[in-house]
Amino acid sequence: MKVILILTLSLVASFGHADQLDIKLKRYTERFFLKAVEKPTGKKVELYKLGKELFNEKEISGNRNISCADCHMPELGSGDKLPVGIGEGGKWQGKERLISKGQVIPRNSQPLYNLGHEEITHMFWDGRVHYRKDWDVYTTPVEALNGDYPERWDITENLGSALAAQALFPITSHEEMRGKKGSNDIANAPNEEAVWKIVMRRLLAMPKYRKLFKEAYSATPKNELNIGHFAQAIAHFETHEFAAYNTPWDNYLRGDKSALNQKAKRGALVFMESGSCVACHVGTLLGGRGFAAVATPQIGPGKNDPRKNDEGRFLVTGREYDRYRFRIPPLRNIALTAPYFHSGAYGSLEEVVEHYRAGIKALDHYDSSWVINSFKKNFDKILFVETNPYMLFKKKDAAHPIFKNGEIQISNSQKSDLVYFLKHALTDGEQLK
Ligand code: HEC
Ligand code: HEC
Repeated sequence: MKVILILTLSLVASFGHADQLDIKLKRYTERFFLKAVEKPTGKKVELYKLGKELFNEKEISGNRNISCADCHMPELGSGDKLPVGIGEGGKWQGKERLISKGQVIPRNSQPLYNLGHEEITHMFWDGRVHYRKDWDVYTTPVEALNGDYPERWDITENLGSALAAQALFPITSHEEMRGKKGSNDIANAPNEEAVWKIVMRRLLAMPKYRKLFKEAYSATPKNELNIGHFAQAIAHFETHEFAAYNTPWDNYLRGDKSALNQKAKRGALVFMESGSCVACHVGTLLGGRGFAAVATPQIGPGKNDPRKNDEGRFLVTGREYDRYRFRIPPLRNIALTAPYFHSGAYGSLEEVVEHYRAGIKALDHYDSSWVINSFKKNFDKILFVETNPYMLFKKKDAAHPIFKNGEIQISNSQKSDLVYFLKHALTDGEQLK
């Protein structure tokens, strides 16, 4: 009898506690517009099928040796497990991507989860591909696609999203897919539009793709098919294949209070309160919308910079304010997509949270020893790690005030809860007990 009484009392106590957490969390989810991701609708089987084939097609690369999937492996969290990517000429050995004859890519291969969501309007770490839906206007590295009356409206009219516009660019990058000048017809093409034309010519020379395009675009005559159709099909595939909407967090937001356990709820509260994560990681996707500077360590070849620097958004806008700012990443399935940040500087979510705990001092304490193994194994050489005090000072100076002023305060037990939330509550298909 006594035992039953104690059991009942402790059950009441733990439910009572959960209520408090739920009440607090509700306040934050309302204030920060945190909503469940909905399953994308409108899947068209033929378009998806074409997109899937194209995503895995090496024929679209100059030297016919690399596909999108080589850097965005579905079974590796839609990435390649590398700090920074390896381009055409690289090879897979089991689950390791090796440099072989390939080139080092300046940045970490981004995960592809939920990129078809309407909140995603900027693509890439620096947001260089942008779509404004209400105006139906693109801003991209190719002028002919941009503005109110784009010269290549025949391409843009088929896109319909930033995600589709993005798919036009891996094939025009010499390091990623196009190949070195002199090595093939696509590499030698005079400009992007010529690349797109050759890619379509190669595809439509294959009976398989004549059939797949015809099935996906039955109303479009073959001579009117262009790279916009190619891009739309890939985006359609990505939208449906890499949708993550069935996480414990999503189910909790849909009203199932038992979808999160106590630890996950406490972690979610750290995310909202002392961690200040929600100051940047907001909206349905917990990110994806703005840009911010968080003093990320720089490793790898750097982006268009002889000092091996990567100034992020500044490279696109030229505005001082944008120096070292990168797109705030969305966080669904984050447990599956290590290494983290634009340079892949951190191998685990524990290290990411340590970065935020240390604030700008993280740059002085950056421990690159874990990544040296990957450098040796995958790249066959030691890649650059920024340690120059002046460069580090400039980056610290540019950091967001929350970060600079040490406003992020996380105790050890809060860290454990926060990491648990990131690792388990945000992973598609996971069930928490
Ligand atoms: C050589 C490796 C490599 C290949 C091949 C590659 N990607 Fe990527 N992908 C990357 C890297 C690295 C980035 C980040 C680049 C940047 O921000 O400058 C990226 C970014 C993206 C993004 C933007 C994600 C976001 O959150 O903004 C999408 C979408 C994408 N790739 C899809 C594709 C598709 C589709 C293809 C094939 C047409 C492809 N990738 C081929 C490495 C690769
Ligand atoms: C000032 C805005 C800001 C705050 C506050 C912030 N983040 Fe971030 N977060 C970013 C930006 C920007 C990046 C990408 C930086 C880069 O790539 O260099 C990022 C990257 C990440 C990544 C890596 C994502 C990936 O795909 O590589 C994780 C995980 C993350 N943040 C979690 C958190 C957590 C947890 C907190 C709270 C402790 C937090 N963030 C607070 C802006 C912020």
